[in-house]
Amino acid sequence: MLPHQTPAWSALEMLARRPLPRIAALFTQEPERLSRMAPEVAGIRFDYAKLPLDRLLLSALKDLAEQADLAGWRARLAEGAIVNESEGRAATHMRLRDPARRGGHAALLDLARRVRTGAFGPVRHIIHVGIGGSALGPNLLVDALGDSGDGPRIHIASNIDGMALARILAEADPAHTMIVAVSKTFTTQETRTNLDTALAWLKAGRVADPIARTIAVTAAPERARALGIAEILPFDESVGGRYSLWSAVGLPFALRCGPDAFEALLDGAHAMDRHFLEAPLDANAPVMGAMADVWQACFLGRPTRAIFAYDERLRLLPSYLQQLEMESNGKSVAHDGTPLPFPTAPITWGGTGTDAQHAVFQLLHQGSHADPVEFVAVATAGHRLDAVHHRLLLANCFAQGAALLRGRTPDEALAEAGGDEALARAKSFPGNRGSATILLDRLTPERLGALLAYYEARTFSAAVLMGVNPFDQWGVELGKQVAGRLAAGEGDGFDPSTEALMATVARQC
Ligand code: F6P
Repeated sequence: MLPHQTPAWSALEMLARRPLPRIAALFTQEPERLSRMAPEVAGIRFDYAKLPLDRLLLSALKDLAEQADLAGWRARLAEGAIVNESEGRAATHMRLRDPARRGGHAALLDLARRVRTGAFGPVRHIIHVGIGGSALGPNLLVDALGDSGDGPRIHIASNIDGMALARILAEADPAHTMIVAVSKTFTTQETRTNLDTALAWLKAGRVADPIARTIAVTAAPERARALGIAEILPFDESVGGRYSLWSAVGLPFALRCGPDAFEALLDGAHAMDRHFLEAPLDANAPVMGAMADVWQACFLGRPTRAIFAYDERLRLLPSYLQQLEMESNGKSVAHDGTPLPFPTAPITWGGTGTDAQHAVFQLLHQGSHADPVEFVAVATAGHRLDAVHHRLLLANCFAQGAALLRGRTPDEALAEAGGDEALARAKSFPGNRGSATILLDRLTPERLGALLAYYEARTFSAAVLMGVNPFDQWGVELGKQVAGRLAAGEGDGFDPSTEALMATVARQC
């Protein structure tokens, strides 16, 4: 039985017809709310108390988790059973951070050590070519924690647009550069093209044997070998691109910050995995997050979920989560192919605080949408500048959640507007807009590992509650195939608009 066919789903549909609870009132009606709804795991506080979920709803969502067999799916994921049905595969990313199985990282850690200690000569720049899951995770890790690293600078070229690589090549020098080519399939058009161009640049820069300065990270080592690459770090087919930073795909982070930092990242993720696997469903941080996500997207029909990182070090988190959540759960059929009669994963979007406050927060506070908002902050600063910066940053972060919740009543607005009723209407805020705040005590490899493992477990849990397979991505394939046909010059047989566009550029490039 799929989740939407269970009695719990019907009960939730009934609850969705009630007027929404007043979140502020829940703090008095439920005196234990804060302790129940703000679990702390692995140095991270997950404050869900300002979400529009009362005890009744949480209990109905817990029923759904039980009737959807979340505990069973969770166990099957952990034990390496086939959970990706459309591709007939397990999803083994959690096993990569299990200390009992870490032997598989020996080659990665050894290679990182060798590069860092000069086995390839002085290496100051790494050009990482890869896209999607083969870039977003490493990019986030290096951007978040790379300031404290002493290894080579990491430059990530993902886009097929040569501008991306051209900018990197302008900063690097061939004599001190190595290439890391990351691709699960080793067939991806963008990565292969960027690799060819980077190799040609090394050759033009008088590097005698460019391929000897190239490391491949792939689940298809034979394809890398066919190009003459000798340094190959393989990873398993059962590790999906967007779940792969725990494998050799994380090499750039180990190169920049060292093997110990990489291991600490895995330790933090494993601590979160233990919590996800062992904590009861209604006190389980990722499961609670997933329950809130499914309630708001599937039952309240809220089409987006915004994530704001109130820390420059985490500025790439929203785009990382876009892939994790939208490529995983952006599905319209269940894992058995049954069409789903409800809206599934919302659009994940977001930005960095406080910049975003001066750009998009108007809509969040007063727009006609009341979509869920999530803040991610770190209690301690990553810099040594005046503490005022961090104090104001956190004050702004917490102020947004408080203001979304409280709003401004028409009477308050009237007083503020000096009795001008039209102005008062413009200055009224509905309030009762829910948000979650995730607060890390500090940003270390362990904490970042735990945070990313949390989002993975939450995405998986939401998939189970909706009945979708989070581990395939067939939707991406059609676009790839059509791009391949157009790139091969097959401009005929498309719609008139596409044919005209192709004809226009044919005259110019
Ligand atoms: O965009 C689809 C996708 O398959 C992602 O899931 C993956 O991370 C990316 O392409 C890159 O693929 P590969 O690692 O095979 O180059």
